[in-house]
Amino acid sequence: MRELSVSGLSKSFGTLELFHDVSFRVARGERAGLVGANGAGKTTLMRCLLGEEEPDGGAVRLEASETIGYVEQQASLGAGTLHEEFRDAFSDILRLGEKKKAMEREIGRGGASEELLAEYGRVVLRFEHMEGYDVESRIRRVAFGLGFTDDDLTGSVAHLSGGQKTRVCLAKALLREPDFLFLDEPTNHLDIRMIEWLEDFLCSYRGGVLLISHDRFFLDRVATKIISLEHRTATVYAGNYSYYQKVRDERRAALESAYEKQQEKIRETEEYIRRYRAGIKAKQARGGKANWTAWSASCCRRKRRGLIISRSIRRGSARSAWSKRRIWRRLSAVI
Ligand SMILES: Nc1ncnc2c1ncn2[C@@H]1O[C@H](COP(=O)(O)OP(=O)(O)OP(=O)(O)O)[C@@H](O)[C@H]1O
Ligand SMILES: [Mg+2]
Repeated sequence: MRELSVSGLSKSFGTLELFHDVSFRVARGERAGLVGANGAGKTTLMRCLLGEEEPDGGAVRLEASETIGYVEQQASLGAGTLHEEFRDAFSDILRLGEKKKAMEREIGRGGASEELLAEYGRVVLRFEHMEGYDVESRIRRVAFGLGFTDDDLTGSVAHLSGGQKTRVCLAKALLREPDFLFLDEPTNHLDIRMIEWLEDFLCSYRGGVLLISHDRFFLDRVATKIISLEHRTATVYAGNYSYYQKVRDERRAALESAYEKQQEKIRETEEYIRRYRAGIKAKQARGGKANWTAWSASCCRRKRRGLIISRSIRRGSARSAWSKRRIWRRLSAVI
């Protein structure tokens, strides 16, 4: 599996739920833009993927052999020269280079054992595989691409501005060319020329890229998919930022139209119920009046024939007597 796979991820800080049920994939060669409002939880989500923040639920899957380079929103550096800082990004390769040189010195003294020669062969192969001979040219390519000069390389990083420090961190992550590159707001301290350089660099990147950015033009040129953190979950759009905007606007318009239709249906149903109720009442009123007329006429007829006692009719109103219809019915039955 050469992809980063996230399924059902959730995270809250106390009562503040940032996201739930977040699922997406980023394959090598894909560049996913992570977008969302300020405070939506983008940085926290990225930190969950890196294992720097513990998610409340869900799973993040990535082969143990896959490497991740991370450039934080807030940069922090040591106190050496810029060149040392960049070389620090290659510390394992440089250590291997030192080992190789020490073995070469020993072999040069003569009388090297078979084991030493075999071990030396393995170290050389590994050093070549890690492109150890290209470290200096890689440092210069990335450093100059991000606007640093020869003078900057020999100067101390302690005197760099916040923006320059962010650029150094970005350069260090790019130098290693990890399998997955996580960038949190990488364009914040870059000028147009540097942004264009970064766009070209990322577009030809062989690994997977997950980048948080509010720069829609940058996302438009770089992203191959957009993961939008909204309504406390993630929605994946299979295209760049313009595609995301178009589909999102279409979905919103469709939802609004569906809402309007639903409201119209509710209004129609309420109107129907109102008219139906009014109709029932009118019918009941008409039916009640007819029943009352027929009943009182029958009472009169029966009274004339001396068949019923009309005492309660005389005592109360005729209407209240009508309301005692069931009693009358029983009385009538008895009589
Ligand atoms: N360790 C923490 N403890 C408590 N709350 C936190 C913690 N880290 C972040 N938050 C809160 O979680 C919310 C999301 O923060 P986060 O930095 O992930 O957002 P974001 O989408 O990256 O925002 P921005 O676009 O401004 O960078 C914020 O309200 C933040 O204050
Ligand atoms: Mg953030």
